[in-house]
Amino acid sequence: MKKLTTVCLMIPSVFLLIHSSGVSAQVGIEANGVYGGSVSLNESIPFTNPSISWSFNQTVVVAVRAVDREPECVGTYKGRCTLLINGTLILDSLTNTDDGIYTMTAQPPDLTAIRTSTYQLKVYPPLSAPVLSSNSTNNNKLVSGTYVSLHCDGGNQSITRYIFFRDGKDVCSGRNVACSDSYLHFQPITVSDSGNYTCVIQNPVTSNTSNTLQLAVSAPVSDVRLTSNASGYLWPGINSTSLTCSALGTDVSYTWSLKGVPLPQNLRYQLTQGNSVLTISPVSDNDDGPFTCTASNWINNMPSNNLTFNLAANVSNVSLTSNSSGESRIWAEEDSVYLHCSADGTEVHFSWALNGKPLSNDPHYHITTSVSPPSSDLTISPISKNDTGSFTCEASNLISKENKSVTFNLGWRPEGNISCSAEASGTDVNLMCSWLGGNPAANVSLIFNNQTMTEHNNVTRSVSTSSSIQGSNLTCQGDQLGKTSQCTVELERPKAPGHDNNSVTKGIAGHTVVLTLTLKEGLPCVFNWARLTPNPGPIQNPSARATITKYDIISTSLSSSLHILDATVNDSGKYECTAKNIIGAENFIFNVNVTAQGGGNDESPKPKTLGGGAIAGIVIGVLAGIALIGILAFFLVRKNKRSKERERINEPGDQLDLPVYSTVNKQNGGAAENQNAQDDVKYAVINFAKNNSSAKASNPAPEETEYSTVKTSAKR
Ligand SMILES: *[C@@H]1O[C@H](CO)[C@@H](O)[C@H](O)[C@H]1NC(C)=O
Ligand SMILES: *[C@@H]1O[C@H](CO)[C@@H](O)[C@H](O)[C@H]1NC(C)=O
Ligand SMILES: *[C@@H]1O[C@H](CO)[C@@H](O)[C@H](O)[C@H]1NC(C)=O
Repeated sequence: MKKLTTVCLMIPSVFLLIHSSGVSAQVGIEANGVYGGSVSLNESIPFTNPSISWSFNQTVVVAVRAVDREPECVGTYKGRCTLLINGTLILDSLTNTDDGIYTMTAQPPDLTAIRTSTYQLKVYPPLSAPVLSSNSTNNNKLVSGTYVSLHCDGGNQSITRYIFFRDGKDVCSGRNVACSDSYLHFQPITVSDSGNYTCVIQNPVTSNTSNTLQLAVSAPVSDVRLTSNASGYLWPGINSTSLTCSALGTDVSYTWSLKGVPLPQNLRYQLTQGNSVLTISPVSDNDDGPFTCTASNWINNMPSNNLTFNLAANVSNVSLTSNSSGESRIWAEEDSVYLHCSADGTEVHFSWALNGKPLSNDPHYHITTSVSPPSSDLTISPISKNDTGSFTCEASNLISKENKSVTFNLGWRPEGNISCSAEASGTDVNLMCSWLGGNPAANVSLIFNNQTMTEHNNVTRSVSTSSSIQGSNLTCQGDQLGKTSQCTVELERPKAPGHDNNSVTKGIAGHTVVLTLTLKEGLPCVFNWARLTPNPGPIQNPSARATITKYDIISTSLSSSLHILDATVNDSGKYECTAKNIIGAENFIFNVNVTAQGGGNDESPKPKTLGGGAIAGIVIGVLAGIALIGILAFFLVRKNKRSKERERINEPGDQLDLPVYSTVNKQNGGAAENQNAQDDVKYAVINFAKNNSSAKASNPAPEETEYSTVKTSAKR
C-alpha cells in the first residue's frame, strides 16, 4: 500500500480548484475515517454569526447555516451529521461512499470576507486479522542455522504497516532478523529465536493482530565430550570414578556404551543429571573401557571420544629363584645366596619373611628393589644357621597379594674342635669324644687301645680301671663332610713339666704373691692348695670375694693359681698344690719368700714412676748414633735404677710392666715368666756383624757396637 500523499492547497488556489471539474487529483486536508465510525472535520471560523456551507465533491450540499439561523444538515446527511457554529462538521455512520473531498465556505453577515477549507476524507474498512505463517513445515522443529521466513498475510486490505512481535516484543530489531513489509526473514534462525510470534497490521485508523505462531528452534548435537575425574591408576574394588558427558545442542539425551556395547545394567553404574554423568562405584576389572557416550536429540546424534581407564592390575606371576639349586648343600657362615623375586602387577611391593616372620634387619640380609619391572633381590651373606626354614617373598599391592617360598639345604659345622675327655664313673672310666652342633651331625670316632668306635656327634666308651689304662692314649677323630678335627689325651697322672719344686717365688710385703701351676695337656684335674711350712693346713677358696680373705684360688681344668693377698713376711714358706685326675694325684711344691720393702718398712710407698734418668735412657736409646758419652751415661743410670725396678717387676700386681719380649710360657696362659729372671729390665739390642745376635741383652759382649737400645720396662 502506498501512503496517501497530502497536498495542502493554499487559500488563493481554492477557487481555481473549485472551478476545475473532472480533476481527480487529491487535494485538501487529509482526513481518515473507518466504516461505521465518525470523523470530525474541524474548523474555527473567525466570524461572528457567519453563513456556512459544506459540500461533498463540490456538488452535493452536506450542511448549511444562514445568518441568524440554526445550522442544519441537508438531504441524506440529515440525522448523521452535525454542523457546529464554529464551522466544524461531524459525520457519523461513515461508509465507503463518504470517500471524497469536503469543502467549506463561510462569510460574515456583511459578506466583507470569505473563508474556504477543503478536506480529503478517506474511509477505511475495518481490518480483519492477518494470518501469520512460516515457510517451514513444522514450526516446532526448526533447526538453528537454517533460513526461515514468516509471512503476515493481511489479504487485500488497506494496510499501511506491519509489525512483528515475539512474546510481545518487537522482533525486527534483532541482528539476525530482516523485516520487509509483510515478511520477516531469519538470517539464519537461532535457538534464541524460539517463542510465540504475532504480527500486527495497521492503517491510519485501525489495526489488527494475527494468530499466534509458535516457533521452536533446536540446535543440533555437537561437541560431544567425555571426561572423567580419574587421574593415575584406578584400583578395582577400591576406587570410584565419575564420567561426565557434555554436548552442545537442544534437548540432548545421553546413552552410554562400554567396549562397544550398551552399558549393562549394574548397581555399580549410576546415571545422574539427565544421564549425562555416569558414576562407577567401585570400579571393577572390567571397567578399563573404552567408555563412550552418545548425545542425541531429534536432529542428530553424535558419539563422544573413547575414554579408557588405567586400571591397576592384580599381583600375578610371582617368581622366586635362587642361585643355589635346591639340592646342593649350603654351609652356614661360609656360603652366600642370592634370591630373586619378581611379579607382574601395579605398584607391587615386596616383603621377605623367614618361616612366616618378617626378616630382621640384620646386616647379613641385603635387599634391593626395582620398580620396573617389579622385583626384589635378597642377598644373604653369609647365610647363617638361623636361616633354616622357608624364605618367602610376598608381592602385594592394594588389591592383591601372592607369595612364593624357597628352602635351602643348609648345613653347618660343629662348634669348635673335637674334644677328648675322660671321667670316673664308679670303678669305671668313661672315655668320651665329642664334636657337637654339626648339621648334619659329624662322624666322631673314639680310638682307644686299638679299638675304634664311630658314632654321630659324640662317642662314649666305658673302660674298667682294673684293666691297665694308665699310659694309654685316647684319640678322637671327627669328620663332617670333609671337615676334620682330632685330639689325643694321655691317660696319666697330672704332669707339670715346667714346674720346679725348688724354685722360690719372691714377694714384697703389702703386695699380692701369685703361685701358678700349669699342667701339661691331658685329663681334667681338680686342685687343692695347702700350706706346708710354717703352720701347715689346707687353704680354702673363699666362697665370695666380698669376704676379706687372705687367699684367692682361680682354677681351670688344667691350671690353678693361688693368690696370697696383701702378703707379709709371715707368708714366706712352703706351699703345696695337689692336682688330681681320674688316674691319680700329684703334688707340687712352691717356695715363697716375702721381703719387707725398703729395709723392713712395709708402709713406705713403692716407686710408681720412672726417674728422669730412665726417660733420658729411652730417648738416648732411640736416637741411634748419639755419641758414646751418652751411651755410657745411660748405663750408669741404668745400674742405679736396677735394684728399685727389680722390686717393682716382681710384684704380681704389676705384671703389665713386664717387658713384652719376656719368654712367654703358653702353658700358664701367657703370663710372663719372671721367677728366674736375673735381670728384670730387659733391652732389645740390635747387634750388627755378629751371627749370634740376641733379643735379650742380658749378656752384652763388651766389644759389640750397640746402635740401638729399646727399653720398655715401664708404662706409667
Ligand atoms: C482488491 O480490492 C480491489 C478494490 O477494492 C479490487 O479491485 C481487487 O480485485 C481486489 N483483489 C482481491 C484479490 O480481492
Ligand atoms: C650366589 O650369589 C651370591 C651373592 O651374589 C654369591 O656370593 C654366591 O657365590 C652365589 N652362589 C652360587 C652358588 O653361585
Ligand atoms: C715335688 O714334691 C712333691 C711332694 O713332696 C713330690 O711328690 C714330687 O715328686 C716332687 N716332684 C719332683 C719333680 O721332685
